[in-house]
Amino acid sequence: MKFRKIGVLLGGLSSEREVSLRTGEAVLNALRERGHDAIPIYVDHDVDVALRQEQIDVAFIALHGRWGEDGCIQGLLELQGIPYTGSDVMASALAMHKGKAKELFRLHNLPTPAYYTLTLDDLQDLPGVHGDFGFPCVVKPIREGSSVGVTICGSFEELAPAVEKAFAFDDEVLVERFIAGKEVSVAVLGDRALGAVEIAPREGFYDYQNKYTRGATDYFVPPRLSPERYRGVLAQALRAHVALGCSGATRVDMMVSDSGNEYVLEVNTVPGLTPTSLLPKIADAAGISFGELCEAMLSGAGLTSRRGRGERRVVQRSFVGEDRREPAPPAH
Ligand SMILES: Nc1ncnc2c1ncn2[C@@H]1O[C@H](COP(=O)(O)OP(=O)(O)O)[C@@H](O)[C@H]1O
Ligand SMILES: [Mg+2]
Repeated sequence: MKFRKIGVLLGGLSSEREVSLRTGEAVLNALRERGHDAIPIYVDHDVDVALRQEQIDVAFIALHGRWGEDGCIQGLLELQGIPYTGSDVMASALAMHKGKAKELFRLHNLPTPAYYTLTLDDLQDLPGVHGDFGFPCVVKPIREGSSVGVTICGSFEELAPAVEKAFAFDDEVLVERFIAGKEVSVAVLGDRALGAVEIAPREGFYDYQNKYTRGATDYFVPPRLSPERYRGVLAQALRAHVALGCSGATRVDMMVSDSGNEYVLEVNTVPGLTPTSLLPKIADAAGISFGELCEAMLSGAGLTSRRGRGERRVVQRSFVGEDRREPAPPAH
């Protein structure tokens, strides 16, 4: 492995902080077990200082949600010349914004559920804006994860409270057609779809509770789909990853409707990475251990960043050289 000191960035400022801590600790343990020099970097407002002090050679981004998965931390790492895992600034920002991501899916002819978006002004006339969109529908904050702020609405009476809840997390909200069927999540690594998992919550939908409570959801690897449909799902997921310009590992959330149509919901650019998370589950079934997965993600780091740390060193050396060339003091 080409990197010496690895900084695992975890914690962060988003509503998914707890999940990020679990992801980061799992990654840190796996890398250390495999003999790497890896340190944790707990992310808060002073992360720029921590990054400069620790002098890491590569950042393993284990941050979920806003500021960690949306291009912000990626931009800071670019500025500091530190290579990092996963997608670049633009792909991260596009994937995090469910509205922009869906515009791109449509542009690339990828099926995604019908939708509209709301800003606070629209609250004046919610019935007028919703019009004949119908029910059931799904209401989501436009830039969240872990199902935070997501509600499935069966009637107009449920719509206003759901929209209000979503606005508590963001100033733009997505209202999407509900797709009845199987939920499937696909793991993509580099330019390959590794496989998929079918997600079957015992009750309700795959909300925060069902995501993180042991035994609340059944998982099937591979999904209970016909071979043709399974191949189709993998191909669509890879296309979604490419449409947003993603790199490294992503997890593409999809619905396969009862009538047999596939829909892309979203692409996660920093998927959960505990040994029991979905991406590692799928990788494991494809013969890739958790440690190997973390190493594979690291080996892609820097491929997307414009300036690797190596380049920064060159710049720094030239400054040192210039200092040495200071004019000699005048002779007396
Ligand atoms: N259009 C939809 N039809 C049916 N279920 C949906 C739809 N959109 C979201 N869901 C459910 O809500 C969950 C969270 O939605 P998702 O778009 O993946 O956002 P998040 O970023 O919070 O994971 C999904 O895993 C799925 O269970
Ligand atoms: Mg999701």
